[in-house]
Amino acid sequence: MALTVLSRGVLIAPFCLALSRFVCYAKESEQQAESAVRIGVIGAGIGGSSCSFYLRQLFGKDAELDVYEAGEIGGRLATVSIGGHVYESGATVIHPKNMYMQRFVRDLGLKHKDRPTTGKKMGFYNGEEFVFIESQWSVVTLAKMFWKYGFDLLKLRKAVGVLIENFSRIYDVHDNGIAYTSVEGILNAMGGREYVNLTKVSLAEVLKEHGYADEFVADMVSIAARVNYGQQTNMSAFAGEVSLAGVQGGLWSVHGGNKQVCSRLLEKSKATLYKSTVSGIKLAKGDKPGYYLIIAEPPDKNGNISAHVAGKYDIIVIATPLHHGKTDLKFKSFPKEITNFPDPFHRTVATYVDGELNFRAFGFDSKEDCPTEILTTRDNKFGINSVAHNYPVDYQKGKTETQKPVWKVFSREPLTDNQLGTLFTSRKETKVVDWLAYPHYDPPDTLSSFELHAGLYYINSVEWAASAMEMVAVGGRNTALLAYNKYHGLNDKIDAKWKPKTEL
Ligand SMILES: Cc1cc2nc3c(=O)[nH]c(=O)nc-3n(C[C@H](O)[C@H](O)[C@H](O)COP(=O)(O)OP(=O)(O)OC[C@H]3O[C@@H](n4cnc5c(N)ncnc54)[C@H](O)[C@@H]3O)c2cc1C
Ligand SMILES: *[C@@H]1O[C@H](CO)[C@@H](O)[C@H](O)[C@H]1NC(C)=O
Ligand SMILES: *[C@@H]1O[C@H](CO)[C@@H](O)[C@H](O)[C@H]1NC(C)=O
Ligand SMILES: *[C@@H]1O[C@H](CO)[C@@H](O)[C@H](O)[C@H]1NC(C)=O
Ligand SMILES: *[C@@H]1O[C@H](CO)[C@@H](O)[C@H](O)[C@H]1NC(C)=O
Repeated sequence: MALTVLSRGVLIAPFCLALSRFVCYAKESEQQAESAVRIGVIGAGIGGSSCSFYLRQLFGKDAELDVYEAGEIGGRLATVSIGGHVYESGATVIHPKNMYMQRFVRDLGLKHKDRPTTGKKMGFYNGEEFVFIESQWSVVTLAKMFWKYGFDLLKLRKAVGVLIENFSRIYDVHDNGIAYTSVEGILNAMGGREYVNLTKVSLAEVLKEHGYADEFVADMVSIAARVNYGQQTNMSAFAGEVSLAGVQGGLWSVHGGNKQVCSRLLEKSKATLYKSTVSGIKLAKGDKPGYYLIIAEPPDKNGNISAHVAGKYDIIVIATPLHHGKTDLKFKSFPKEITNFPDPFHRTVATYVDGELNFRAFGFDSKEDCPTEILTTRDNKFGINSVAHNYPVDYQKGKTETQKPVWKVFSREPLTDNQLGTLFTSRKETKVVDWLAYPHYDPPDTLSSFELHAGLYYINSVEWAASAMEMVAVGGRNTALLAYNKYHGLNDKIDAKWKPKTEL
């Protein structure tokens, strides 16, 4: 793969830059049909891979599609090996009504992972005691929950139901070829102005306004914000509500690992994959504008870095957050500065332990009484957001050899040896995955455009509404449609108001 990059980059592009345009033009037209559109995608996470899949569907077989990936295919869909098994280390759970993820799994020959039905017990821990512990009998569980949180829980489930129903409108919109230029456009298509407003205020404020009890927000709601985004109920309400979608239950993962969705989407897209880090994008001048993608070579023995042009493209899709420390892309020769994206990303550390949890530290005399999913409602002496059993990616009912759980701890900072020593009585193996995970949602959030410049697109704008596999897949398909509609001047399919078919 890298060889192909070198041959195109080193031989053609600098040649074009150095020699007169005539020579260059002749050289280029030998290389490819004049009509074939050339598209470069930066990043092969769920955003880049879903976008590539849809770009191929839309532009057809003649389009030249190149994907650049600096790390592993899947990005934040990743796995970790510990104790002889493989576990999800990044994005793990998917809502049953996330239709893009469902369609991918169905169409790519993948399947849902089995869910363990026994041996799981959830508990909510406030730093001193458990405010709630799941019972083995679900009816009792429900009764207990109901006793404690009354109608708030029902109300929340209903509200989340409406959120998901409204969210589902985007599938219809996209299936009809309509794309939006901005994240606001997508949110408007889903829930009207209300959803945009939800990115401007905090989750706690919104729930208070809707009459939820303080105790419910402090216990139930803070858990969702802490476990899903490592944040608090002062985070933005839209992302906060997305984090609450789990209360509906039925969450699933892909058998064998979520990241297979990305590799299979890429295969289907028939894109050429280059395992390189893109260091910059340069606007090309001329009668047919486009972009040069710049690849930085690894430093030489003197530590000098040189760069070369990897290719010239009509369309470029950036499928990674433009946040310092995540992706440091340089934009060159643009008439207007493409601003850097300063909003902070949130750090989440996942620590995997093959060992024994110190149930006594949580106030239990026996292992059997201690929950296997401890979700915390606030900051605590352990320094953790949660500690829970995690099952292998190939977990299968009736196959005991696939059912070994390890402990997975989420925290905002790496755990010290001292902290690990308090949490666990013994550890056979420990692995740490340190993520710059998702945006730090500090309302009001700035929602930006999917289009940074004509023909230059940015999928991850969508993460500033909420970061999740499905959200980014929505961004990926939207960006593919937007690029296609713009390229072919289909203006009636851009930012169009969508009226759902009236029901018969
Ligand atoms: C710990 C954790 C838990 C999560 N849990 C869930 C969950 O349970 N459910 C859920 O739906 N979501 C979850 N998420 C969020 C979810 O992972 C993200 O929203 C989603 O995966 C983002 O996908 P992406 O393709 O936009 O970005 P990424 O997956 O980050 O992909 C970007 C890719 O671009 C590559 N890249 C970056 N810079 C360059 C460059 N200069 N040149 C070439 N390549 C480059 C990177 O290597 C990377 O592979 C979680 C995230 C984390 C970190
Ligand atoms: C759902 O969408 C409708 C129509 O846009 C909107 O009026 C309503 O407020 C939304 N509901 C919620 C709970 O977001
Ligand atoms: C959204 O916020 C604006 C400005 O604060 C307000 O005027 C409008 O009524 C709100 N819309 C909805 C649907 O909540
Ligand atoms: C490479 O680095 C060395 C030492 O830092 C420096 O002297 C030299 O000029 C550099 N070479 C180039 C081509 O930049
Ligand atoms: C929320 O509150 C916590 C703790 O008080 C604080 O550290 C954090 O910065 C706040 N976040 C936002 C988005 O305001």
